Amino acid sequence: MKITFVFVPLVFLLACSSCRGQSRLDQTSKEHGHTHYPSFSEVAAHKLIFPSKVPDRIIVNLTEDSAHSFAVNWRTDQQMSVGYVEVANETHGPDFLLEGNRRRIKATTQIFENENTRDQEPLVKGAYHAALVKGLQPGTTYVYRVGDGSEEDATWSEWFQLETPGTDDNAPFSFIYFGDAQNDVKSMWSRVVRKSYKMMPNVDFMLHAGDLINHSEANVEWGEWFHAGGYIHATVPSIMTPGNHEYTKGKLSALWRPQFNLPLNGPSGPTKETCYAIDYKNMKLVSIDAISLQRDEDSRMAQVKWLDSVLANNTKKWTTLTMHYPIFSTAKGRNNKKLRESLLPLINKYGVDLVLQGHDHTYARGAATNQKDGMNLFEDTGTVYAVSVSGPKMYESQDQEWMERRGEFTQLFQIITVNSDTITYQAYTPLGSLYDAFDLVKDQSGKKKLINREPEIPERFKRDFMKEK
Ligand SMILES: [Fe+2]
Repeated sequence: MKITFVFVPLVFLLACSSCRGQSRLDQTSKEHGHTHYPSFSEVAAHKLIFPSKVPDRIIVNLTEDSAHSFAVNWRTDQQMSVGYVEVANETHGPDFLLEGNRRRIKATTQIFENENTRDQEPLVKGAYHAALVKGLQPGTTYVYRVGDGSEEDATWSEWFQLETPGTDDNAPFSFIYFGDAQNDVKSMWSRVVRKSYKMMPNVDFMLHAGDLINHSEANVEWGEWFHAGGYIHATVPSIMTPGNHEYTKGKLSALWRPQFNLPLNGPSGPTKETCYAIDYKNMKLVSIDAISLQRDEDSRMAQVKWLDSVLANNTKKWTTLTMHYPIFSTAKGRNNKKLRESLLPLINKYGVDLVLQGHDHTYARGAATNQKDGMNLFEDTGTVYAVSVSGPKMYESQDQEWMERRGEFTQLFQIITVNSDTITYQAYTPLGSLYDAFDLVKDQSGKKKLINREPEIPERFKRDFMKEK
């Protein structure tokens, strides 16, 4: 009798829990119009993957003219087939809501679906909305929200604040550079991006040097990236260059162009929204699609030709390139020969100041003044190269000639402040400790002096934390 008493409720409980699981699954299937969920139970992060009527994955990108415009993208479910941005000058109170104070811009909406079979993710049907908000005043704080245009607040985002840069090109500005986030983005990258924002809430923009996620088509991973950044992505404009993990078999993630709104001023061909240039105050910023360049000869020739002409016509005092693969790797045997051979001559010819990269899952910063033939390429400080990592995936590196500072097993973000004659670069850990810092000072003639600053913590190496296998 005792056995029966225990057994029956157990069977009942198991049956019920499987019932509940099934009905939840059926309900979701119906809602999203799916016929199959091969391993839906493994997709734990429902809200990170499926859109709803309410905008999510809201992100502001820098435009070619950020003093007068910003680009914003977001996602909803497919029932929301139109999208609008409302924008107003920010006010002390709710006065910006009053009649005549806001204007509305219609977005371009793309009905889109993606199924990441590689990770057995279910089909995700979404509507991606993209808008370019133009006609803004420089140096002004705006509020904006995105939604479906209805009178009800329920299907709009909250109002986000955003400040346009002023027109004084010599006024200082700051940006934060992140190496690969890539893995455990919700779990482990979130604290990095959040700490960076906490340390520099007035930052002007953020720069992501590729491998934002691990599997290019993984909707859950993109959901994690947007979740980790939360309202920061909607408040601080960003730019990003693709990494090899944004590609699968030579194909850029199908989500890249729908979810970002990056300048279209790059070379014609396959690098639309991955290779482009932005003028920001006294800096020229260029994203090179290193993956496409390394793999595809036509793309390589097109990007090199385009970069040559962009840099030849560059009137900005400072020039920064970002690309995912490093010109000089932190690990021996990881060099990207085609990339280096095609870009280094231009970097040297035009005296590029900073090259911000990722991919190696370690940290290093240095200048290529000591080539393998022992020659100094420049009389003064040349280009400063940095490789960084913001996510938790960690490799090892080897000490090499070009490096001034090196690190492993450390998640980092870099706050870079640009003045008319000085770039101040500071790499921080998630604890806010200064891991690396320098000033790059440029005189009237264009000569540069590098001043290394004292870090707060010693160099860290993976071997100190992980036992040899
Ligand atoms: Fe990579």
